[in-house]
Amino acid sequence: MIISASTDYREAARRRLPPFLFHYIDGGAYAEYTMRRNVDDLAELALRQRILRNVADIDTSTEIFGQKLSMPVVLAPVGLTGMYARRGEVQAAKAATAKGITLALSTMSVCPIEEVASQVDAPIWFQLYVLRDRGFMRNALERAQAAGVKNLVFTVDLPVPGARYRDAHSGMSGHYGPARRLLQAMTHPRWAFDVGLFGRPHDLGNVTTYLGKPIGLADYIGWIASNFDPSISWKDIEWIRDVWKGNIIIKGILDTEDARDAVSFGADGIVVSNHGGRQLDGVLSTTRALPEIADAVGDQLTLMVDSGIRSGLDVVRMLALGAKGVLIGRAFVYALAAAGGAGVANLLDLFEKEMRVAMALTGTRSISEITRESLVK
Ligand code: GLV
Repeated sequence: MIISASTDYREAARRRLPPFLFHYIDGGAYAEYTMRRNVDDLAELALRQRILRNVADIDTSTEIFGQKLSMPVVLAPVGLTGMYARRGEVQAAKAATAKGITLALSTMSVCPIEEVASQVDAPIWFQLYVLRDRGFMRNALERAQAAGVKNLVFTVDLPVPGARYRDAHSGMSGHYGPARRLLQAMTHPRWAFDVGLFGRPHDLGNVTTYLGKPIGLADYIGWIASNFDPSISWKDIEWIRDVWKGNIIIKGILDTEDARDAVSFGADGIVVSNHGGRQLDGVLSTTRALPEIADAVGDQLTLMVDSGIRSGLDVVRMLALGAKGVLIGRAFVYALAAAGGAGVANLLDLFEKEMRVAMALTGTRSISEITRESLVK
């Protein structure tokens, strides 16, 4: 086991959450091999210790898509974040913006975009899925623009949902799901009061606003399976580039050819991602996929990465491989589930401290000084 604040928060989240929610965030696809490789391959990258290089002033800040960030970390879009703490997306966004970074709000969030954007002073990012109902997508883009969003994360690695066997075991899906979830909620009273009782409404806020009727948690997986569009291709999304005035960041790229296609499409950025190992088990870890992609397109768009990042050291490792910034998903949701917005704030403070130590001991004073030279060959 790798020791980090994320692993402590994971343990605390495991105790606090009804199992169906813990396993939904903690689990991955099939045997979870890729999910583990994401963490292990990253941990195995050896940082290069350097000495006597005057590291009195370390600056972790950066600029991504013209937005100043106190460190190159963005909270990833995670569906149902609002089930992990009361109005969880709002709490996470507040902690992120207080820290000088931001949250990319999921299409599948509990809190609708207006609720989140209205409670923070810095612009949030918004993540969009390809849904069969293009009316929903247009509506979501308009609402994001009205809420001041400049950066659209367009997730393309979910034409079909990956098979997550833990969800069937835990009661998230499958037979007796509703009864099992109720029983689990009753035996986890801290969660039941915080979220179950006081965190309502429990629905997909962005979808409810569009449809005018709530889509509850019970319909969540079914809703994804029947509403996500598997027929999608590059041609189908050209209209997004035409209607969306801000930056487009394509998330879910693991192959260099696809990264080149994203450049041809005119994407402003990409996120190298295997969806945290939640989609196709057996694909490359992002640590292994990133360097080749960075060599191919790193100077043509803004390269970001996620999947497996659990500490500030991991952030430095990913920057050394060529990323300009990272998204963290599970790490912040564990902290949110364990201790609400204060947990997220503490986790982000720890990430920053870890980055500072890693930068000092690799002899790098600013984000731009972190390069492949910061790793042992
Ligand atoms: C949806 O994006 C999921 O990974 O569950």
